[in-house]
Amino acid sequence: MRAVVVRPPSPGAELLDVPVPELSAGTVRVAVLECGVCGTDHDIVDGKYGRAPPGSPYLILGHENLGEVRELGAGAAGFAPGDLVVATVRRGCGRCRFCHTNRSDFCETGGFTERGIGGSHGYMADEYVELPEYLVRVPPALRSIAVLLEPLSVVEKATFQGQRVLDRKEPTPGEPKVGVPRALVAGTGAIGMLAAFVLAVRGYRVTAIDRHGEDTLAAGLLRRVGARHVNVAGGTAVLGDEGYDLVIEATGSVALDFSLIDRLGPNGVLVLTGIPDAGGPAEPVAGGTLFRDVVLGNQAIVGSVNANRTYFESGLRDLAVFEDRWPGAVAQMIAGRHPIEECASVLAQRTSGTIKTVLTVRPGGAGASPP
Ligand code: BGC
Repeated sequence: MRAVVVRPPSPGAELLDVPVPELSAGTVRVAVLECGVCGTDHDIVDGKYGRAPPGSPYLILGHENLGEVRELGAGAAGFAPGDLVVATVRRGCGRCRFCHTNRSDFCETGGFTERGIGGSHGYMADEYVELPEYLVRVPPALRSIAVLLEPLSVVEKATFQGQRVLDRKEPTPGEPKVGVPRALVAGTGAIGMLAAFVLAVRGYRVTAIDRHGEDTLAAGLLRRVGARHVNVAGGTAVLGDEGYDLVIEATGSVALDFSLIDRLGPNGVLVLTGIPDAGGPAEPVAGGTLFRDVVLGNQAIVGSVNANRTYFESGLRDLAVFEDRWPGAVAQMIAGRHPIEECASVLAQRTSGTIKTVLTVRPGGAGASPP
């Protein structure tokens, strides 16, 4: 079968003919329809990240996925051929309490693998085989946007974690809040845009920042969901003095990370989701002022990575809400679909201002609206 492979830490990606994975008892064979390309994929292709499975000379890339169930192995249940599915990414270490309770996103041993990223083959291939517990069924009505479910799951977790930390100041968790909470989203790639959509649905007054003007697709979509867009190419001072209750960072820029701490309001929470380069330059920081304000303002800085199945499920509910409120808006985030044969050139370029690029493995599929 065809697969997009990388050989970390060597840079580059290529389409290779690889053996079809074996369908063992209890597993499901899935025909891949399409895969999203994200910053992590670019980092792997650049040789900065990623790990092949033990004993394999290559890693099949791809973790943002949508496929169609083909075949069930003996004893596999819960799915039927033709079902649309999205697979989760992380597989637990099998040792810690988090992995034992389906929360490998909080694995504390580091012994997990991630399909298409670290230690386990991904989904940019004609087929993959997986246990039913890692597959999330997608309603056919969401066919054209479900490839965004994996990045949305990351957003679902990050916003939920942020809300949990914010809730620490409430006398009774879940009690209706007074006033409209303010959220700041840094970055208007797929994670930032999906975060703006989620937070708008959750009742936040949303501001989203990037380094572009008002004439981009992202700025237009932000207007559509009632969010404010601010170009911070000249620095975040343009935001003024307003403090935010929840800040979701989705850029991986260390300098910006520090400046966002300054944007927190009293009791505010900054959730970092962008993964910076480990070897980046040291940043000069006025740590005294910064952490003084964090302490005196009861502020919190939280990192959030990956997502377990529950966040894929809440993401599906949110995708339906987005479609209901802003029909067609999420589909616009997908800037282009390219056949898998174009993988090397698509993966070689990071396109600034593009929200999401998708590689099509197999056009169509059951219940498909044309991709
Ligand atoms: C993926 C996550 C993964 C993280 C770190 C992200 O791009 O969406 O599932 O945990 O990279 O590898």
